[in-house]
Amino acid sequence: IPVDPFDLVIFGGTGDLARRKILPGLYRRFFDGQMPDEARIIGAARSEMDEAGYRDFVRDAIKEFSGKRNDPNMVSAFLEKLSYVAVDATGTDGWKDLAKTMRADVVKAYYFSVGPSLFGAIAERLHKYKIADDAARIVVEKPFGHDRESARALNATLAEHFDETQIYRIDHYLGKETVQNLMAVRFGNMLFEPLWNAQYVDHIQITVAETVGVGGRGEYYDRSGAMRDMVQNHLMQLLCLTAMEPPSKYDPDAVRDEKLKVIRALEPVEHSEIVRGQYKSKSESYLKDVENPESLTESYVAMKIRIANWRWNGTPFYLRTGKKMKARVSEIVVRFKEPPHSIFEEDTGQSANELTIRLQPNEGMDLTVTIKEPGPGGMRLIDVPLDMTFAEALGEEAADVPDAYERLIMDVIRGNQTLFMRGDEVEAAWAWTDPIIDGWTEREDRPFPYEPGSTGPEEALILMHRDGRRWRELRA
Ligand code: BG6
Repeated sequence: IPVDPFDLVIFGGTGDLARRKILPGLYRRFFDGQMPDEARIIGAARSEMDEAGYRDFVRDAIKEFSGKRNDPNMVSAFLEKLSYVAVDATGTDGWKDLAKTMRADVVKAYYFSVGPSLFGAIAERLHKYKIADDAARIVVEKPFGHDRESARALNATLAEHFDETQIYRIDHYLGKETVQNLMAVRFGNMLFEPLWNAQYVDHIQITVAETVGVGGRGEYYDRSGAMRDMVQNHLMQLLCLTAMEPPSKYDPDAVRDEKLKVIRALEPVEHSEIVRGQYKSKSESYLKDVENPESLTESYVAMKIRIANWRWNGTPFYLRTGKKMKARVSEIVVRFKEPPHSIFEEDTGQSANELTIRLQPNEGMDLTVTIKEPGPGGMRLIDVPLDMTFAEALGEEAADVPDAYERLIMDVIRGNQTLFMRGDEVEAAWAWTDPIIDGWTEREDRPFPYEPGSTGPEEALILMHRDGRRWRELRA
């Protein structure tokens, strides 16, 4: 789909997200020939810097983060598109300069790659200095609020200056190839959807395990924890896409309406059905990493979720996510029920089909199918995977898909909100999360320790064992 000429302003244009994701992502689109000639990118931040200085900064970012596409000639051509304006987000400096920089008759997009405390100030100034027109788009990053109240306040602030159709709330998980593929698989095949319900599905597991710790983000992370940092947004989105009813068409509101219905149908989680963890060993620990020896914040969480509707009544969803785990794995596993009756004497009774959708690494899907073990020796059954690793099935090149940010930024320019969160969706997700977090705070719950490099606290295994189930092994 062609992309119209655009002016993209990145507030926080010298920040970490711009350096690691946004700018290298834009460069990759450029490299792949998917950026119109008339596209321009304007970095905006507080520090005084000239254009040459900003281009050097971007060149370094591309070198570090754009992988094999780093080609000096292409980089130079891309840098031609860049300029820089110093602005004071909460003051008056620079705004008139920015207004002068913007062209008429092109798509205007403003990426708020800054903390939410600056959203209001920037939105107000874009309006006041007539920098944004009625068709302009603003892009905001998570964390979108800290709880329902703050999310609601943020929504209200943005709504003072922008219509909902102009606001693009990013959850980068929605930009991942396999996440969109989840919709293609569910709604583009006849094979799965008739079985996609409580009658045939035993349970669903959603895992986002990371090997990294909290890195240099200790201060932010310790105020958030896994629940706010990952569950309220990324895992919630995966849950919604897995559980939602078929939208009538693939369009922004049709899809988001269905996701919202799922969130509203979530039952409150019982205290006993949620496990929190904090990594800890002799040599390293979460507490040291966040420099807060008293911290009660979780770096791991696992829970059992029930969706109170016709489709899912009786089929639990188990979610888990954590830092410093054994392997980096993000996947959704749909475990079907066992056949109601076995006709085979030697049936070991363990066979149930499992559909795994792997987000990362090795994007793809596999489906375990029960077959007869080849050879003589009677009717012995084994489970084999029908493996559809994209790189193998479609070739390495086809599997070289755009990074989530690249895709989402291009969707902003195209004006397609399907893969962005609507304001009511974000608030509903917080409304479900808040009581869980409040409960921990009131009870001063202490997370269970787990070894870095492990699969998480043992209590999370017990959560599954109690139901006669187990987590899928964490395999990269
Ligand atoms: C971010 C979280 O939103 O997602 C991080 O703030 C987390 O804590 C990251 O590491 C995970 O993203 P990805 O794309 O690496 O799975």
